[in-house]
Formats: sequence, structure tokens, C-alpha cells
Amino acid sequence: RQDRAIRPKRLAEYIGQQELRTQMEIFIQAATARREALDHVLIFGPPGLGKTTLANIIATEMCVNIRQTSGPVLEKAGDLAALLTNLETHDVLFIDEIHRLSPAVEEILYPAMEDYQLDLMIGEGPAARSIKLDLPPFTLVGATTRAGLLTSPLRDRFGIVQRLEFYTIDELASIVTRSAKVLGIHIEPQGAYEIARRSRGTPRIANRLLRRVRDYAEVKANGVINDIISVQALDMLRVDTNGFDALDRKLLMAMIDNFSGGPVGLDTLSAAINEERGTIEDVLEPYLLQQGFIMRTPRGRVVTQQAYLHFGLKVPKSVGLSG
Ligand code: ADE
Repeated sequence: RQDRAIRPKRLAEYIGQQELRTQMEIFIQAATARREALDHVLIFGPPGLGKTTLANIIATEMCVNIRQTSGPVLEKAGDLAALLTNLETHDVLFIDEIHRLSPAVEEILYPAMEDYQLDLMIGEGPAARSIKLDLPPFTLVGATTRAGLLTSPLRDRFGIVQRLEFYTIDELASIVTRSAKVLGIHIEPQGAYEIARRSRGTPRIANRLLRRVRDYAEVKANGVINDIISVQALDMLRVDTNGFDALDRKLLMAMIDNFSGGPVGLDTLSAAINEERGTIEDVLEPYLLQQGFIMRTPRGRVVTQQAYLHFGLKVPKSVGLSG
């Protein structure tokens, strides 16, 4: 995979998320001028929108090293202590899936974030000792799919909280065009637009589809991605005109066929389509909600008119308009 090659390295190369970019530019410039570590940053949003990319950009812009780990990997307090004690002044520590930290590890993180202090217990029973170590000032960048998954003491310790939004089609078309250039792929604007339109608002999906459409263009044509090749390739990949894949369609059709459009509870839905609740909440639902194909109600999820229309189905009288 050439993911690294196409990831933007500077804020100026980062496309979309305009408000976030404007803010981060100011915070980074101010911290740099004061010769301080940037305040801790929490980034949340659905998968594939650029949380890791942003963490790396922050480190590059601050001219510091980045150390990367993830919540589930840090099993014991000592695992985190090892990382913290290896940091250099103003370094970025990036913890992906930070909502999955164990309580013991989270406890270590609080004083580390607040006072750059490491409080460790060594030994057990009457011989147990607490040792305190000073840490260099550092920046914790935490990433999670939903801010609501964090405990409030942890969330409260981030001075900067940024939410990543789904990208517009135009932004995704720019990202696809940029990636194509980096990878040496010849793509026409309408070809990029068609990939962008079917990418669920998500750069990671756009870049993946770009690679698959390139394969198709090279084997079935002369390697140039135009609108016709894009449409043919994406149809072959079974990515539909709204960017829905097999799993999106399975969810929507289950709601329509098995539950008369809802309302249906998350756990019931999870059992019906044999998909984890977390995957539905973090991966499938956000885009369907944002696009107005489903809605949340106090009694569960319901599909909207748009969903019926997308599948060419007759809209039952009981189904309301979205939004
Ligand atoms: N690749 C992935 N996300 C990107 C973004 N936001 N801007 C530019 N290239 C990207």
C-alpha cells in the first residue's frame, strides 16, 4: 500500500475541514511562537476521515516527533509509562481508539496530561511504593469515532477538541485528483467526480476506489480514468450512485423488509444483519444519518422516504420526509 505517499504532510496540503484547519493553524503558530507544547488535541469522527493524517500533520507543523499507539494495545500502566518516558520535549503522542484505554492506563494519563507527571505504583502490598517522574512537556493527540465514548475526566483534559465532518463531493474530487497526481494516474475531472460522488464522504474510501478504478482502466482500457471508465468500474465494484456498498444496502433493506421501515432498536438490527453494534453505530449509521436515509427516534431507527426511493420502492404512506 502507498497510503503514506498520498497522505498530506502539511496543513496547507490538507483539503476540506476548513474551520478545523483555520483553528489549528492559529493554535500551532501560537504554541510555536511561545516555544510551548501544543495543548492536547482530541479528534473525533467516523473512520477514514483523516484522524491519523491530522495527528501526523500536527507533529510535522510543530517540528516534533510523533509516537503512535492505540487504546487496546496499552494493556498495562507500564506500557503507557514506557512510551511517556521516551518522549522528547514537545513531542506528539498519538493514541488512536483512545476510548478503549483500560481504567488503569487512563489513571496514568490524567497527571501526565495535566502536570506532565508520571505517577507509578511499584510493587504490591506493604512494600508498594509510589514514584513520581517529571515528563517533558508533550502533546497528546487522541482519536476516537465518537466523543461520547470517552469518560468525562479524560475528555475534559483536552484543550483542543476537533470534530471531523464528512467531505463534500467537490472536496473529495480534489483529494482524488491530488492522489492520482501523486500516484502517476491519468484521470479526467469527470472521472474524479464520479469516484468522489460514490465515496461516502470519506477520503479513505475515495483513495481505495481510485486504486480499483485504475486497475479497471489499465486492464479494460488504456489506463486513463474518464467518466465512462469510472462508472463502469464502480458499477462492477457494486458501489452504487449514493456510494452505498453491500453492507449499507443490507442494513437499509433489513429495516425496510424485516421491520417495515422501523422504528427498530440497534441490538435488534445488529442481530438481524449479523453485524456488530459498534460497526453499525460507528461505520454504517453516521453517513446514512447525515445523508438523510435513516433517522434516529426515541423508539429506534427509521428509514426515510429517500431510502425507499433509492431502491426504487413505493413509499408507504406512514413514512415521513427526512430532515
Ligand atoms: N487524503 C486523505 N485525506 C486528505 C485530505 N483531507 N486532504 C488531502 N488529501 C487527503
